[in-house]
Amino acid sequence: SSPAQTLVERIAALKEERGAVILAHNYQIPTVQEVADLVGDSLELAQAAAKVDADVIVFCGVDFMAETAAILSPEKTVVLPAADACCPMAEMVVPGEVRVLRERFPKAAVVAYVNTSAEVKAESDICCTSANAVAVVESLAAEQVIFLPDRNLGRYVARFTEKEILPWDGYCIVHDRMTTGDVEEARRAHPDAEVLVHPECRPEVIDRADRVFSTSGMVRHACASPCREFVIGTEAGLLHQLKKQCPEKVFFPLSSRAVCVNMKKTDLAKVLAALERCEPRVTVPEDTAARARTAIRRMLDLPR
Ligand code: 13P
Ligand code: SF4
Repeated sequence: SSPAQTLVERIAALKEERGAVILAHNYQIPTVQEVADLVGDSLELAQAAAKVDADVIVFCGVDFMAETAAILSPEKTVVLPAADACCPMAEMVVPGEVRVLRERFPKAAVVAYVNTSAEVKAESDICCTSANAVAVVESLAAEQVIFLPDRNLGRYVARFTEKEILPWDGYCIVHDRMTTGDVEEARRAHPDAEVLVHPECRPEVIDRADRVFSTSGMVRHACASPCREFVIGTEAGLLHQLKKQCPEKVFFPLSSRAVCVNMKKTDLAKVLAALERCEPRVTVPEDTAARARTAIRRMLDLPR
C-alpha cells in the first residue's frame, strides 16, 4: 500500500483503540477531511463536540475550535494536531477591551463570534457563528449589541436587525482581501454561475454576491439549488466538500488567494502523532471555561 494509505489505516486503527473521534473543519486539506468522522462548519463542530460519545476528540481546525470543544466537554481529552494553528482574527480582541466596552456601553449585550479566545468568550453574554449570527442577535433583549471581533459579520448582521450593532474592528485576513474586482471578474468568466460568499467578506463584496452563507450553508445551498455553476467566496478548502457533496455541479473559487495558512497546518502525519501521544492537548482553566461555557451554551440552546 502507498505511504498515504498506511497513514490512513494507522489512524483508523488507533482511533478505534483510543475511543477517539476526529472532527474536521470544512477548510482542512482533503486528506484530513477524508479521515474525519464529521466535517462541518463552526456551529456543526461545536454541536458535535457538545454531544459526541468519545474519550478523545481530535480537532482538525484552529485553536479556538478545539478550545470550544474543551470548554463544552471538559471530561474529554481534546487534541489539536497542529499546535500552532490559530485564527488571526480571534487575536484581534482581548478580554480587557471587552471590559472597557462594557463600561462605555453598560446597556449593551456582548456577542462573541466563536472566532475568539476562551477568555473573550468568558467576558461575553452569548456566542454566535456565521450560521446563526442574526438569530443570536435577535434573541437578545438588549437593543444595543457589541459585536466581536468581526466588523464584516457585525455589519452583515446589522442589515437584518433593528438593534444597534456596535462592531469591533477585527476581520479575517482571508475573506477581507476578497474584492469587488474579484466578483466582477468571476461574473465575466462565469456568467451563469451563482456567486456565494461568506459573511466575513466586506460589505461591498456581499452587495455584489447572490447569496451569503456559512461554509456548510454553501454546501447545502449548492446541492439544493437548480443552478449548476457556483463561484465560491470563501476559503479554498470548502471546494473539496462542495465537489464531494454535489459531484454533478461545478465550482470556481472567487479568489485564487483565499487560503488560510492556519487551516492548512494539519496533515495526516500530525493527526496520527496526535492520536499516538494524545498531544498537543488543549485545556481551558475551569474558572474561564465555566464562564465561556455559559455563553456557548446559550447559543447552542437557541431553538434551531
Ligand atoms: P464557518 O463557521 O462558516 O465554517 O466559518 C469558520 C471560519 O473560520 C470562517 O473563516
Ligand atoms: Fe480565522 Fe479567517 Fe482562517 Fe477562518 S479563514 S480560521 S476566520 S483566519
